[in-house]
Amino acid sequence: MSKLKVEGGNPLCGVVDIQGAKNSVLPILAATLVSDGECVIEGCPDIRDTHTAIEILEALGARVTKHPGYMTIDASSAGRYEIPDHLMRKMRSSIMFLGAILTRNRRALATFPGGCELGQRPIDLHLSALRKLGVQIDEAYGVLDCRHDGLKGCEITLTFPSVGATENVMLAAVKAEGLTILNNPAKEPEIEDLQSFLNKMGARISGAGSSRIVIQGVKKLSGVTYRSIPDRIVAATYMCAVAGTRGNALFKNVVPQHLSAVLSLLSDAGCEIRCYEDSVFLECSRLRSVNPVRTMPYPGFPTDAQAPFMALMARAEGTSVFVETIFENRYKHVGELVRMGANITAEGRVAVVNGVKRLYGAPVEAFDLRGGAALVVAGLCAEGETVVSNAEHIYRGYENLIGCIGDLGGKISAED
Ligand code: EPZ
Repeated sequence: MSKLKVEGGNPLCGVVDIQGAKNSVLPILAATLVSDGECVIEGCPDIRDTHTAIEILEALGARVTKHPGYMTIDASSAGRYEIPDHLMRKMRSSIMFLGAILTRNRRALATFPGGCELGQRPIDLHLSALRKLGVQIDEAYGVLDCRHDGLKGCEITLTFPSVGATENVMLAAVKAEGLTILNNPAKEPEIEDLQSFLNKMGARISGAGSSRIVIQGVKKLSGVTYRSIPDRIVAATYMCAVAGTRGNALFKNVVPQHLSAVLSLLSDAGCEIRCYEDSVFLECSRLRSVNPVRTMPYPGFPTDAQAPFMALMARAEGTSVFVETIFENRYKHVGELVRMGANITAEGRVAVVNGVKRLYGAPVEAFDLRGGAALVVAGLCAEGETVVSNAEHIYRGYENLIGCIGDLGGKISAED
């Protein structure tokens, strides 16, 4: 079990270069399966989830070669269609491979995906959309046995703008016969990034970022070179750490627009923020509570920033009310923050945070990716030493976490 040791009390100051977006690169890696040529993915973050995605690609027969700063994926020999269960269980986005496999093959075999335990996390929207595209899916004993005799475009309306279901439809419809119209899709920047990647390959997709995506099936998709957008959630996490330690920093490789809801609340909380074309400067000397912090689909406040922002509000002046509208069980970090002296009460989807003057270092446990990151933020803001166990969760999404925080003057080290 990996642990992170954090010594709090130092204001974080300096420059941090933000990694490529995990939640963009993962569907893009799945999308390399629908290419008829070799793809080059630049700036792929070196994190456990991308390692898992590469293992899945190789299990399907693709050839992946890693180079410094980029990787090549040749899926021309990817003739296998079964994703091993142990890989499906490692992360939620393994389900995204379903659509891509079905575009390459007339069959796909997978089990239910794993990933952060944020609630039940069903995949009913994925399966009903794939069935509408002509896929016969037999679910028995946790196995999804998918078959089709040719994917056919159709009109699909998602009852919830699910990020993963939107991506699965795009990957299954990209070479389907005819037109697919997807209503009420997710509007996240990662969806637009997937559309850009697929269209660069020769796909005909429009409308990503809006309330309707239109996909005209094509016959051929060529290999391309591509770099994903920056990771807006990693940027938000480090901004919470800098603000929480009353420091100042320049965040490079950032798209300010992707962070507008986060930057708005950070500004309301008292941070001085200056936005440039691909960077943001933030400094904070005094922090007040903001209300309410309500998570919403993009462009609302992102659910993935809820936990790090709560760690920040734990030491703000005043009371904040959080409402988690996306996942039904995304407050596992609350009990751990309370061990550090935070004054937080969570009930269902609501958490009330009464800011305290100081937090104290303590032994705490990460239960999921963003909750674990929140404990690191709290440890940097606390007096004394915090040891975060189950740090594997955090390594799934934060590249070079120790290096980035160390470069900002934070004291953090790994203990295996
Ligand atoms: C993606 O998960 C992200 N993961 C999550 O980030 C993020 O929190 C989430 O989108 C919301 O923005 C990746 O992109 C790899 P959803 P996803 O489908 O696709 C319900 C992180 O920390 N739902 O938009 O699983 C679901 O239960 C991770 O990086 C159904 O009911 O999210 C949830 O309540 C955590 N049926 C809501 O929709 C379905 O078939 C949002 O889920 C699918 C989803």
